[in-house]
Amino acid sequence: MVKKIGVLTGGGDCPGLNAVLRAVVKTAKIKYGYEVIGFKDGYRGLVMNDFVEFKPGDVSGILDKGGTILGSSNRDNPFKFKVVVNGKEEYKDMSDVVVNNIALHGIDCMVLIGGDGTLTSARDFARKGVNVVGVPKTIDNDLFATDVTFGFMTAVDTATEAIDKLHSTAESHHRVMILEVMGRYAGWIALESGIAGGADVIILPEIPYDINKVTEKIIERKNSGKSFSIVVVSEGAKPVGGDIVVSKVVKDSPDPIRLGGIGNKLGDEIERLAGIETRVTVLGHLQRGGRPDPYDRILSSRYGVAAVDLVNQGKFGRMVALQGNAITSVTLEEAVGKLKTVPADSELISIAKSIGVSFGN
Ligand code: F6P
Repeated sequence: MVKKIGVLTGGGDCPGLNAVLRAVVKTAKIKYGYEVIGFKDGYRGLVMNDFVEFKPGDVSGILDKGGTILGSSNRDNPFKFKVVVNGKEEYKDMSDVVVNNIALHGIDCMVLIGGDGTLTSARDFARKGVNVVGVPKTIDNDLFATDVTFGFMTAVDTATEAIDKLHSTAESHHRVMILEVMGRYAGWIALESGIAGGADVIILPEIPYDINKVTEKIIERKNSGKSFSIVVVSEGAKPVGGDIVVSKVVKDSPDPIRLGGIGNKLGDEIERLAGIETRVTVLGHLQRGGRPDPYDRILSSRYGVAAVDLVNQGKFGRMVALQGNAITSVTLEEAVGKLKTVPADSELISIAKSIGVSFGN
């Protein structure tokens, strides 16, 4: 019989984390009468035993708030945790410390909310015999086993609004305006916001671009009387035969590569080859912040409730997922380590091509 659950939010923050926490805590308390302990700053809180005991009122008024009231971290892998020994940094496996802390609190199951890094550790804890349930988070929408991760739609909203605003200056000044969006190695944010915002060129990591094809499209528009163009480029994009642009390497992160800079590279090349004034906007962390949109509030609530239902049914080692419009669950073994990128035969790519969008190929 489950009596007490633990919860944490790991990885990069994302709109909807608080909405999931609210649903988890409320479902646990109202539907099942469980106690809930929240660990602070992702797995760091579990390693350091830094926690809060949730009271029913603690999650009131957070449904619409960005970020996470528990804090998060995308650096603290409990299986390779940075410690300082005799003034020297070392990486140690702290997973047994975590297992002890969970036992110390009498926690029957941990609900782990995060992206691939957090959920990979969740799978590894499941392999160690810990009861865990995962909830898929990321603005990148790149988790293999779910159609949609929470946070993605809000990021698409934010990027679409940015494209709408860039149109004003593009038209007034007869410029090429480039928007660089996040997404790591998956082009979902670029593809969906590009279509929603009416971009002329969309550049994805999945389709290496030919700069001559990109400029061809822009010049063709100019020749047909359209004196401006909007280009949306995903941070993980690369030219045919070329490489991604890395902005920094975060050594102690489970995924150390930070992307960024392709927008400026592209901007310089377009200005030089097309001879049209070009400006670049890097949307950055604006995509991760602020209020979740209604879609994400609802999806986060569905995920949070479903996660606690799984706990109640004793279905551990699983991650809640959205398939079609139904909430279901998959094993963590199936869920992690595989990227969901935009497939070549994506319906959205073919729709965009039908309405004249160039993918630079
Ligand atoms: O995975 C979410 C994400 O926002 C990516 O889209 C982006 O590449 C990365 O995280 C940025 O990470 P950080 O916040 O560490 O710079």
